[in-house]
Amino acid sequence: MISQKSIQEVLSIAQVEDIVGDYVDLKRRGVNMIGLCPFHDEKTPSFTVSPSKNIYKCFGCGKGGGVPQFLMEHEKLSFPESIRMLAKKYNIDLEEDKRNDDEYLEEKRKLDSLHIINQYALDYFKDQLHQSTEGKSIGLSYFKERGFIDKTIQDFELGYSPKDGKAFLKEALAKGYKENLLKELGLVSQGGYDFFRERIIFPIHNQSGRIIAFSGRILDNQKKTAKYINSPETELYNKRKVLYGLHLAKKAISNQDECIIVEGYSDVISLYQAGVQNVVASSGTALTKEQIYLVKRFSSNVILLYDGDPAGIKAALRGIDLLLAQDVNTYIVALPEGEDPDSYMSKVGYQGFTDFINKEKKDFILFKADFLLKEIGDDPIKKSAVIKDIIGSLAKIPDHLKRDLYVKKCGEVLKLDEGKLVRELDRELRSEFKKKKQSNERERSREKYREEKWIAEKKTDDGVINVNAVESADYFQEKDLARLVIQFGDKRVNYEGTDISMAEYIYASIFEVLELFDNAMYKQILVEGFNLADKEQSIRNTFLTHENQDVQQFTINALAEPYTFAEWHLKEVFLQTQKPPDENFLNDSIQSILRFKMRKIKRLLKDLSIKVKDHEGSEEDKQILIKAYQKVQEDRKSLALQLRTVID
Ligand code: CTP
Ligand code: MN
Repeated sequence: MISQKSIQEVLSIAQVEDIVGDYVDLKRRGVNMIGLCPFHDEKTPSFTVSPSKNIYKCFGCGKGGGVPQFLMEHEKLSFPESIRMLAKKYNIDLEEDKRNDDEYLEEKRKLDSLHIINQYALDYFKDQLHQSTEGKSIGLSYFKERGFIDKTIQDFELGYSPKDGKAFLKEALAKGYKENLLKELGLVSQGGYDFFRERIIFPIHNQSGRIIAFSGRILDNQKKTAKYINSPETELYNKRKVLYGLHLAKKAISNQDECIIVEGYSDVISLYQAGVQNVVASSGTALTKEQIYLVKRFSSNVILLYDGDPAGIKAALRGIDLLLAQDVNTYIVALPEGEDPDSYMSKVGYQGFTDFINKEKKDFILFKADFLLKEIGDDPIKKSAVIKDIIGSLAKIPDHLKRDLYVKKCGEVLKLDEGKLVRELDRELRSEFKKKKQSNERERSREKYREEKWIAEKKTDDGVINVNAVESADYFQEKDLARLVIQFGDKRVNYEGTDISMAEYIYASIFEVLELFDNAMYKQILVEGFNLADKEQSIRNTFLTHENQDVQQFTINALAEPYTFAEWHLKEVFLQTQKPPDENFLNDSIQSILRFKMRKIKRLLKDLSIKVKDHEGSEEDKQILIKAYQKVQEDRKSLALQLRTVID
C-alpha cells in the first residue's frame, strides 16, 4: 500500500492542467481553462479546469474531481494505480506503507491468487499441447492443419486440454491450488470435473497481456456440443470489456490509426500471422460500448470485417449506432459469400486480402442503406421502414458537419429528395433532444428529492426520523460551513496573535454548538478538517480523495462552485471596493459562522422556552433554566450586533 505521506506528496505536486492537457485541448478562459468534455459528447466546451483549485468539473455532464479522479475515470484505473502513474510522470519515489489494511490486503491477495491460478492453468494447457502425446497428436496437429506456425502458437499462447475429466484438477490440487478458487475461475465445474476437456485452448488476455479467461474449441465439428465454451465472468473477466487480441494488436492499431474488428478467435490469429496485425475480435457477440471505448484509446477508425453471409452482416449492423454515437469513423467490408476472414486470408494471401479490403471498404452508414434497400426489393412500405432506420442512425452522429455530409450521400443511395431527408432528420433530432432533456430533468428532480430526503432524515435522539424537523433544519448554514472548510480550510489567518488555519478557526468558533449539528456529514467535514489542520495535512487534497464518496463529491462541488465568482462579479458592479472572494474569505467565513450560530442559538432559545414552560420539577431547577435562557438571549443580542457590523 502506498503511504499516506506519498499520496499527499503526489497530490501536492500533480497539476490538473498538465494531466488533463494530455487528453483534452484546453484553452485559457480567465482564471480557468476550458475544453471539450472527454466524458460526454459536446460541441461547445463546458469542461472546466481550475489550475488554482487543481480540479476539473464538467458543467454539462457533472463529472468532476481532482487529478487522480481524472485518471481513474479516463484511464479506468484504480486510485492506487492513478497515484503510481502520477508518481512516474513527476518522478516521485513512492513510499510503501507496511501497516496492514486488512481488507485491502485480503482483496489484493485474492486477486493475486486468481491471476496466479490462471497463469498456472495457461502453463498447464501449453504444456499439454507441446509435451503430452495426446496434446501433440490431437491439438498440435489440428493447429498445424489449420496452418498456424509455431511462432503464432507461441504468440497467442495456444494450448490443449486432455480428455481425462480430472487431469487438470488433480495436478492443480497436487500443486496446492485451492479447489474453491479453481471453481470460481470456472476451470473446474461445481461437480469437481475439469471444465475444458479434449478441446484446444484459446487463452483470453486483457489489454496488458494478463490471462483473464479461456475459451476451448472442440476438435471435431460433428460433435453435438457447443463449438466454443468460455470461462464464466469472474472478478478478472468481464466479457463486455474484452477485445480478443488487443494486447498484441494495440501498437499496430495506434501506428496505423486503424482497427480491424472481426468476429472470431481464429480470424484474429490468421490475419495476425499473415501480417495484418491491427486486428481484434468481438468474440462472436455484438460490439459493446465498453469495447468501443477500448478501441478509441488507440484509434477512432474502425473497419468491421464480418462474414459475407446476411447473418454476419446483420451482426455487424447491430454495432453501427453505438459506433456512430461514439464518433468513430466506421467502415465495413463484406467478404465474399461463404468466407470468413480466416478462410479468405488462407485463400488469397496478404496482398489479395489487403487489396480486397481497400477496394471493398464501404462507409458504414451507406453500406447499411444499400444493404437494407437491396434486401427489401420494391416494397414501398418496407422502404419507409428502411428510411426510418437510416434516419435513426444519422441522428446518432454527434458531429453536425459530418452528419450533413451523410445526409447528402444517403439521399443519393436511398434515391430521396435531400430536403425531405433533412426535414425527417430534424424531427428525429428534436425528439432525441426532448428525450435527453426529459432524462436530464428526471435526474435533476431525483437529485432534488435525494437532497430533500437527506434533510428529512434528521434523526432524533432515540433514532426516530423526525420529518417535521425539516423546516427548522439548519441545513444550509451547516452546508455553508462545510464548504468554507473545504474552500479555505488550508489558508492561514491571524487569530488573536496566533497563526492558525481557517479550519481551526472555524472549528474553534463553533465548537460549543457542535453537538447541535443536524447533518452528520457536514459535522464530519468540520471535525476532520480541524484534525487534518492539526496534523498539517492538506484538507483539500485529503477530501478530494476521501474514502466516503459523498464527502468526495461534496468537495468537488464546493471547489467548483461557480456562484462564488458569479456573485462577486455582481458585487463588483455595486461595490467597487469589494475584493474577489479568495481575498475576502475571512469576512465570508465570519458571516457564515455567525449565521450558523444564530440559527443554533434561536433553536436553543426555543428549546429552553419550551422547557421552562413545561417544567414540572423543583422551583430551583426552573430558576436555573430561566437563567440559562437569559444568558443565551444575551448571546443572541451580541451575535446580532456582530452580524450587523460584519454585514455593513
Ligand atoms: N463463439 C462462442 N461460442 C460459440 C460459438 C462462437 O463464443 N458457441 C464465438 C467465438 O469467439 C468465435 C466467434 O464466436 O471465435 C465466431 O464463431 P465462429 O465463426 O463459429 O467460429 P470461428 O472463430 O470462425 O472458428 P473456426 O474458424 O475455428 O470454426
Ligand atoms: Mn472460422
